[in-house]
Amino acid sequence: MNYEELMEQARPKLGKICKGCPICNGRACGNQMPGPGSKGIGDTAIRNYEKWKEIRVNMDTLTERRPVDMSLDFFGKKLKYPIIAGPVGLVAVHYSDAYNDTQYNDVLVSGCAAEGIVAMTGDGVDDTVVQSACAAIKKVGGLGIPTIKPWGPEKLAEKFACVKESGAFACAMDVDGAGLPFLKKLNTSAGSKSQEELAEIIRNAGVPFIVKGIMTVKGALKAKAAGASAIVVSNHGGRVLDQCPATAEVLPEIVDAVQGEMKILVDGGLRSGVDIFKALAIGADAVIIARPFVNAVYGAGAEGIHVLVQKLAAELEDTMEMCGAHSLQEISRDMVRL
Ligand SMILES: Cc1cc2nc3c(=O)[nH]c(=O)nc-3n(C[C@H](O)[C@H](O)[C@H](O)COP(=O)(O)O)c2cc1C
Repeated sequence: MNYEELMEQARPKLGKICKGCPICNGRACGNQMPGPGSKGIGDTAIRNYEKWKEIRVNMDTLTERRPVDMSLDFFGKKLKYPIIAGPVGLVAVHYSDAYNDTQYNDVLVSGCAAEGIVAMTGDGVDDTVVQSACAAIKKVGGLGIPTIKPWGPEKLAEKFACVKESGAFACAMDVDGAGLPFLKKLNTSAGSKSQEELAEIIRNAGVPFIVKGIMTVKGALKAKAAGASAIVVSNHGGRVLDQCPATAEVLPEIVDAVQGEMKILVDGGLRSGVDIFKALAIGADAVIIARPFVNAVYGAGAEGIHVLVQKLAAELEDTMEMCGAHSLQEISRDMVRL
C-alpha cells in the first residue's frame, strides 16, 4: 500500500469534518472544533504548515558518499528516526467513532514501537483514557510517552500513578491545554501552572519530563528553571489560542536561548521528511507529527503507521543525502535558508 492508497482508505472513515486531504494543511477543517481544526478564525494550523514551506533547503552534493543514519538517542532509548507520533485525544468526537481513544492508542503505541519510534498518548475527561494508554505503553515495555493535561493536584496524582505503573521512559504535560474549551468548561482547578507548581509536578514524575506547548523564549526558560528535560515548541496545532505565530517562526529564537541545555521538540504542520529536516536544521532534536497519524491509523491501522513512517523516513533520508548530512549530528542551520 502506498500513501495515496492509505488516504483513499482513510477518507470514508474520518468523519464529517476531516476531509482526509492529500496534504493535511489546516485549510479544509479550518476553525472547526469539535473536529481536527483550530480555535477562533482558524488560521494558526494553516500558518504552521505554510511557514515550514517558506524555509528552503540548501543542496550540496559535493560530499563523500556514505550511508545515512537517521537514528536518535532519546532519554536512553534508540529511536530509528527523529519522529514522534503526537498525542491526540477524543478521537471519536473530533473524527469518527471508527475508533475510541483506547483502541486508537493501542494501535498507535504498538504500531510506532514496531516502526522503531515512539508515540505520545492524549488525555481526556474520562479517566480510562490515560489508564488504557498507560496499559498500552506497559505492553510495549514502556516505549511511549503519556501526555497528561494540566489538571489540579488531586487528579494529577491519580494520573501520574498510572504513568509510573506503565514504566514509560518519559512523560509529558501539554501545559497549553489550559486554553482548551472543554478543560475550561469543566471549571476545576485545571489550567495554567506557575513555575513553582510545574517544578513540583516535575519532581514527583520520576522520569524525564517534557513540557509541551511552549511558544516563547520566556516560557522555555521557565520550563528549564522548573526542571523540564525537554520542551515541545507547539501551539497545539492552533487549538488553544487564536492567531499565534507558527512554530517555525519562534523555533530559532527558542533554540538559541536554550543553548542545548534541554532537548527541544517541535510540532505543527510538519508533513514531510523535508519539513523534518528543516526543523532539525534550525536546532530541534526531534519532531512530533500528530494529525497525519490519525489518518494513518483510521486508514489502515498498524499498516497505515508503517506506510506513513516509511514515507517520512525516505523523504528525510533523501534530503539529508542531498544536503550533505549523513547523521542527525551533521545537520546544521546553514543547510536551510531562513
Ligand atoms: C483532534 C486533536 C486532539 C488533540 N489532542 C491532544 C491531546 O490530548 N494532548 C496533547 O498534548 N495534544 C493534543 N493535540 C495536539 C497535537 O498533539 C499537536 O500538538 C498538534 O495537532 C500539532 O501537530 P500537527 O499539526 O502535526 O497535528 C490534539 C490535536 C488534535 C487535532
